[in-house]
Amino acid sequence: MLKTYTVAVLPGDGIGPEVIAEAERVLRAAGQRFGIAFTLSHFPVGAAAVAAAGDPLPEETRAAVRRANAVLLGAVGAPGLEHAPRHLKPETGLLALRALLGVYANLRPVTVLAPLVDRSPLKPDRLHGVDVLIVRELTGGLYYGEPRGRDGSRAVNTLVYSTMEIERVARVAFDAARRRRRLVTSVDKANVLEVSQLWRETVTAVGREYPDVRLEHLYVDYAAMRLVSDPAAFDVLLTENMFGDILSDEAAVLVGSLGLLPSASLGAGAGLFEPIHGSAPDIAGKGVANPIGAIASVAMLLRYGLRSPEAADAVDQAIGAVLDAGARTRDIAEPGAPAIGTREMGERIAGVVLDERGTRNVERGTDVRPSVPRSDFRVPRSSDAP
Ligand code: IPM
Ligand code: MN
Repeated sequence: MLKTYTVAVLPGDGIGPEVIAEAERVLRAAGQRFGIAFTLSHFPVGAAAVAAAGDPLPEETRAAVRRANAVLLGAVGAPGLEHAPRHLKPETGLLALRALLGVYANLRPVTVLAPLVDRSPLKPDRLHGVDVLIVRELTGGLYYGEPRGRDGSRAVNTLVYSTMEIERVARVAFDAARRRRRLVTSVDKANVLEVSQLWRETVTAVGREYPDVRLEHLYVDYAAMRLVSDPAAFDVLLTENMFGDILSDEAAVLVGSLGLLPSASLGAGAGLFEPIHGSAPDIAGKGVANPIGAIASVAMLLRYGLRSPEAADAVDQAIGAVLDAGARTRDIAEPGAPAIGTREMGERIAGVVLDERGTRNVERGTDVRPSVPRSDFRVPRSSDAP
């Protein structure tokens, strides 16, 4: 009997619901074309959940994601809640969700698409062949370290990592590199921080299990510079939580818009799939947001969450095809050039996914680059943990 997957959809705040509507449209199209059965149900997260239930990750949502095979998330964040107490901040809901799912490995592929090279402020010759996979540790470090808090004119956060936490995310990076160009660049600040010294030692030790993968270590400041001065030099970029947050926004400059980038967060159980952009309250509700980051996250959901690489490839190829055909949302349109809205972009991509012939034509094309690396790699499982 055909397995029916359960996908929990958490649209969240700001542009989240708009881009997720298009992501769902494309997911349905892929399900129809490839015969994948799933149920999609919506649950609140972030400011939307604070408004509905007084909690950025209500019990209803927790229960739903525990049952799900995969979780699709839009974005969280609202200007009105910036100064709310921590337990009512939308971001607290997202961090609690990542912890609940145990998704310690956040994969952020950054691939420069040929038709968009001129959308980046960087010189085109720097961008040729850029295909970086950021592997960001997601459930540790400064985001979660205790003690934390404020006490009058003093505030404290704690940077802490254990060997086990470093090992398991390092393995994800090395496994990925094996299926790519066999280079891992590990980022730290080992000239200053003890945590970074442990990070470097542990990654080096894990690297000995992968003699076929080259390992280099860069200090985070130099890595930040190299990422824009020589981005093609990177293959897999392995970072702790905070460094990865910063470097992934920097990497978005390479592709021309934050609105294009997807992510997959993997761990022992169900994966969490979300675009890397935020809730963008300034453009929310206007129908101008770029849904491609969310749609490319659906491709990652199909690949790693529902184990349907063929459907994932079709979605990636459809994104490439519509961009090749000149479709542009406002963020990636040339100044003064016409742009299409969120919904039209979603409809065009879904249309190509549904049209078997269209996809075959795309497959024959040579200059369409997938927005995420097509190579698969071992998804981490709890049994991998030492
Ligand atoms: C991201 C975001 C989040 C993070 C915020 C919203 C908590 O910036 O996913 O990169 O810092 O991890
Ligand atoms: Mn971020």
